[in-house]
Amino acid sequence: MQTSNRLEGIGEYYFSQKLREIDALNKQGRNVINLGIGSPDLPPHPDVIRVLQEESAKPNVHAYQGYKGSAILRNALSDWYAKWYGVKLDPETEILPLIGSKEGIMHVCMTYLNPGDLVMVPNPGYPTYRSAAKMAGGTIVEYTLREENNWFPDFDELQRIVDAHPGAKQRGSMAWVNYPHMPTGQLPDDTIFEKWIAFAKKNNVLVCHDNPYSFILNDKPISILSVPGAKETALELNSLSKSQNMAGWRVGMLASGKQVVDDVLRFKSNMDSGMFLPVQLAAAKAVSLDESWYAKVNQTYRERRQSVFQLLQLLNTSFSDNQAGMFVWAKIPHQYADGFAMSDEILKEAAVFITPGGIFGSAGNEFIRVSLCSPVQKFEEARERISKAFEKRGTISTSVKI
Ligand SMILES: Cc1ncc(COP(=O)(O)O)c(C=O)c1O
Repeated sequence: MQTSNRLEGIGEYYFSQKLREIDALNKQGRNVINLGIGSPDLPPHPDVIRVLQEESAKPNVHAYQGYKGSAILRNALSDWYAKWYGVKLDPETEILPLIGSKEGIMHVCMTYLNPGDLVMVPNPGYPTYRSAAKMAGGTIVEYTLREENNWFPDFDELQRIVDAHPGAKQRGSMAWVNYPHMPTGQLPDDTIFEKWIAFAKKNNVLVCHDNPYSFILNDKPISILSVPGAKETALELNSLSKSQNMAGWRVGMLASGKQVVDDVLRFKSNMDSGMFLPVQLAAAKAVSLDESWYAKVNQTYRERRQSVFQLLQLLNTSFSDNQAGMFVWAKIPHQYADGFAMSDEILKEAAVFITPGGIFGSAGNEFIRVSLCSPVQKFEEARERISKAFEKRGTISTSVKI
């Protein structure tokens, strides 16, 4: 049977393709150091694992769960938002637990988009915004984030996009937003979310804020829902994948006003059922951890980041040392045509994989991204390999001395 039209132009995810290439190199004995994917390598808090173990040993926890998630988890998520973001969420009506925030992106697109509806996505940005919107039939228009504007949007450009799209104001449109921003590590400033909400109200836009990195290398987590009136025109996705080291557990959430939660639930309840109850109870434990958990996680990432800075200096890149999230984003030296060329060369010569920024959109072409999800020794080993590989030739690229 032929694949559906909605899959047209949806390629294989870059990383799954690249992992096959890395696999092939490993089979040749190259033992590639993969500094690409942002999957936390450390475990969740031991109390979280204990809850899962204890709860899953009980006989009465194995049935289907309600579509809206357990009240215990929703209450814990509500407390988490109140404590850390200063946002009040009604656990009954304004929170929807998700099987990871990535599925939330698809659910939101399927819930709201009709063919041709405008979806604004950041360039550079997380590729799933684009692919989910495309599969749901939306018309995607990129808005550009530029280094010289601290990776914030130009709201005049956004206004032009809305004005140029027939019917956008009447029917409504969707915009994907993400701060701390992946891949650039840009933190939100004091006004960016207010500007987004004002823009959304003026133009009938549903702002979808994706917020999985707010606790990583950042002491001041901010939610777009802290802006007064935000729940009327915005939703937020959040995740336990990064901040609680639970990427494989698949726990995320959507928060907004009751209407949005009800709308998305209409779609989601036809797609899957509630998560395994012990996972939900362990997740509730995870979001009730105190400051010391986040301090410990961040201490680890801070040490790693220092080592990555050294690696990036060796590679003659330039970068900001105030980035949040699990990556460092760096501008490549002029000698390379783009980040793909640089990434390919480093993989071939030194058996180290670094993500080319271009996979996040054309505005990322002159950048590379290094993941912090490896121990410091790996970064040191990568540095050694790179030094050695390029020492032989005397250069990293044709004219960059190391
Ligand atoms: C910006 C961004 N949003 C969402 C996700 C997905 O997170 P989750 O594990 O909650 O599905 C990722 C994961 O890499 C991400 O980088």
